[in-house]
Amino acid sequence: MPKWFNTAGPCRPDKHYMLPATVRLPSLDRLIAQESYFVIHAPRQTGKTTAMLALAQQLTASGHYAAIMVSAEVGQPFSHSPGKAEIAMLDAWRGAAQYDLPNELHPPPWPDVGEGRRIGAALQAWCNVCPRPLILFIDEIDALMDDALITVLRQLRDGYPRRPGNFPHSLALIGLRDVRDYKVASGGSNRLQTASPFNIKVKSLTLRNFNQLEITQLYQQHTAETGQPFTSEAIKAAFELTQGQPWLVNALAKEIVEELVPDNEQAINIAHIYEAKEILIQRQDTHLDSLAERLREDRVKAIIEPILAGQSLPVIPNEDLQYVIDLGLCRLANGGGIVIANPIYREVLPRVLARVPQAGYDLDTM
Ligand SMILES: Nc1ncnc2c1ncn2[C@@H]1O[C@H](COP(=O)(O)OP(=O)(O)OP(=O)(O)O)[C@@H](O)[C@H]1O
Ligand SMILES: [Mg+2]
Repeated sequence: MPKWFNTAGPCRPDKHYMLPATVRLPSLDRLIAQESYFVIHAPRQTGKTTAMLALAQQLTASGHYAAIMVSAEVGQPFSHSPGKAEIAMLDAWRGAAQYDLPNELHPPPWPDVGEGRRIGAALQAWCNVCPRPLILFIDEIDALMDDALITVLRQLRDGYPRRPGNFPHSLALIGLRDVRDYKVASGGSNRLQTASPFNIKVKSLTLRNFNQLEITQLYQQHTAETGQPFTSEAIKAAFELTQGQPWLVNALAKEIVEELVPDNEQAINIAHIYEAKEILIQRQDTHLDSLAERLREDRVKAIIEPILAGQSLPVIPNEDLQYVIDLGLCRLANGGGIVIANPIYREVLPRVLARVPQAGYDLDTM
């Protein structure tokens, strides 16, 4: 089976056309060697999971560490039942360890301790028996809110001074936002009501989009496999329309090579790129649809609406500007100022805004 352009979750090198998974990550070697706890945040569908999974595999394969990527996702339904969130996550983490790590690095049975201590006690027990320093990457940290989030952060902070013998040597929280923006109230704008919940982190890092050369390299993998070329104007247009947003880059190519121009004899030109763009916008795939979610927040709307209307922005708190940039909705323009992240979002956002109900209604209840 030939490879394909992936638009559904993390990339797998044996199946998908892809760029080397970790090239867009800043170097983490020193951070990890220095036993650091850190945050990796980047917008949806930029390759966080693909990159950190690959990094964990590399670190474990090096023989020096037991590195694993786990997820906080299963804790999502339990914002106000932190004990249940702990149990669900630990169960999922055991499954991940059994799947991803060799037997000798598997965790012991989780200790039988009370609510609010389960994560910390489990990590400590694991580190006590693990023959190598444990490195934990916790993906989808934004899935946790309120009490569930606070209990996890508190336990990590509590165990941190006891690393590496009794707690993970290094740990990363991976999500959309920097810790300062973790929310306590779903849908609300409250910030974490606790002082520096993760003040043990030394750094927040992010993952950049693809540049034009990387898009060329990605698209050329298809050309090498099938003989079907992309004209250089087509690649340039793909870069301009997507600004290198990884999912969009893949989605355009997938639409073209699988639907619009399945005949490998035919070169892919700029018209195909524009046609595919129209189809993506009309179809409002999940990625584009997830933008709608963000526009429900007043502080996001307060920035996006004037930009779309071509008005100058009112005075906006810097942290709100940073927030829409972190979410991937906007970027800093070359000449200064803030603009919508790419021309495709620019076309999608007004349509989404037209659909977002007025104050007083909630999408969930409609
Ligand atoms: N190394 C890569 N090469 C090519 N495309 C990639 C690469 N990494 C990610 N992508 C593209 O980005 C999409 C999302 O990848 P991934 O699930 O790793 O991102 P994510 O940031 O974890 O997303 P989410 O926020 O939804 O969890 C992939 O389906 C693929 O289209
Ligand atoms: Mg992910």
